Amino acid sequence: MKPPHRGLTTLAFTGACAMVALAVSIQSSAQTAPASAESNRFTPSALRIESESAPAALDAGLRAVAPEPTPRGILREAPAAFDNRTNGFDPQGPTFDSIDENTVVALRSYNDNRFIFEEFETEADGLGPTFNAQSCRECHQNIVTGGASQVAEHRTGRMELLQFVESVGGSLIQSRSTHADIFERVPFEDSVSTLRISTNTLGAGFIEAIANDTLLGIRNAQPAAIRGTALEVAVLEANNARRIGRFGWKCQHASLESFAADAYLNEMGITTPLLPEENTSLGRNVGYGTSYDRVADPEDDGVDLRAFANFMRATKAPPRGAITPAVRSGEALFNQVGCNGCHTATIRTAAPGTRINGGAILVRDAVGNKIIHPYGDFLMHDIGTGDGIPVLPGAEFASTAGQIRTAPLWALRTRNRLMHDGLSFTKQEAIARHAGQATAVKNAYDALTAAQKDQVLAFLDSL
Ligand code: HEC
Ligand code: HEC
Repeated sequence: MKPPHRGLTTLAFTGACAMVALAVSIQSSAQTAPASAESNRFTPSALRIESESAPAALDAGLRAVAPEPTPRGILREAPAAFDNRTNGFDPQGPTFDSIDENTVVALRSYNDNRFIFEEFETEADGLGPTFNAQSCRECHQNIVTGGASQVAEHRTGRMELLQFVESVGGSLIQSRSTHADIFERVPFEDSVSTLRISTNTLGAGFIEAIANDTLLGIRNAQPAAIRGTALEVAVLEANNARRIGRFGWKCQHASLESFAADAYLNEMGITTPLLPEENTSLGRNVGYGTSYDRVADPEDDGVDLRAFANFMRATKAPPRGAITPAVRSGEALFNQVGCNGCHTATIRTAAPGTRINGGAILVRDAVGNKIIHPYGDFLMHDIGTGDGIPVLPGAEFASTAGQIRTAPLWALRTRNRLMHDGLSFTKQEAIARHAGQATAVKNAYDALTAAQKDQVLAFLDSL
């Protein structure tokens, strides 16, 4: 999926911008959030900035603590299950606000939204002319609709005068087409090439509900040697307002509606009001007006987009497997060697009613004030696995070519092709590929005894 070609900047925050008290205890989260309005300089001034301030960046010890009342409701564990059932998300729920777009379109039930996510599109619906698959579920189904899958997409480009240049028409190569003569074959000169495997979207509504400040708090708490990069990206449905990206291997989106627009266009060839321009075939116009495309743009009026976004917002988090004594010891060792420096065990979402996505929506009760265990920090790191393709072309983004988002480890036990390219087939191989910023941690892991490593692996198998 291509990120929108506008409005991204790499955040070079220093400790001075840390607006969140780090390592706060759960008690402090019951107090009013820190006043961050002045210092939060990446949020457009028209928005009330404190709306995205963090309740707290929490540490792994939180799980043992009983829920506590907060100003906007009760802090609870997020529901987790592979059961194809809603987490209770209701886009028309009690935290209603008139600026929320979701309230002015026809709203559907969880199952109706899931049906649209699962639906196979046809040429008459706008599928193609170049595309990768016919439905979201083709690539997002394991164990249930919305999960990850083994399907990988292909991105290409080349280096010219030390600068990355995307393949003509964009770095994402569509691997199917509706007509044989417009099929995208990669030009020989485009020698930078990567696969990116489909990621999980279960629990994505909780990730969307993490405040910017929480992500920055996690980042600023990381020791300098492993500190991640936060990227601010454009929220398409909020007039390109900026927010910290957290979705995708390059953190290329901050909102599920924006990601859905990107996916609908780039994976399925369906244009929407947010991204109304049809994909090319290696730069050649094959859109409406040519003989290859019979459907005028936008091919979807935006209703499907909100169905996709609301489906993902309503999914439950991936559940844990059995917690045995070996699993517990393994988690302690995982923390001891420092894996949790990037694979953050516990994050708390913003309170219900918090305005997010550049003002486009409010955090709903079902996803607000929830404690999740993604084992990821939603930041990018250089662990030596960078695929050479920056989040966007241009000097400003060159450093992102070597960085990948920390893979959230929840649902790891349901994946057998690991890392962004899906080319590590065992946990051991995936760990062995950790270098760069992860070198010291990986060395500490290597120094464990065989029995200790088995416990870490048992822990990973419980995720
Ligand atoms: C051809 C396979 C394919 C199809 C079809 C597809 N996706 Fe994806 N999806 C991917 C891949 C690959 C990624 C990771 C891409 C990346 O980050 O570069 C991804 C990532 C995502 C993410 C980010 C999740 C995270 O890890 O943060 C969301 C959200 C998403 N897809 C939603 C959708 C929606 C909605 C649809 C249908 C409109 C869809 N996808 C269709 C392959 C697909
Ligand atoms: C400096 C940050 C950092 C540290 C420390 C770190 N990781 Fe990772 N981890 C990452 C990143 C980034 C990725 C994704 C890399 C890629 O896809 O190319 C990843 C991916 C993984 C994966 C693959 C998951 C998947 O779904 O594909 C596993 C397993 C993993 N890490 C385990 C560990 C273990 C165990 C440790 C401790 C020994 C550790 N990591 C330490 C950043 C880190």
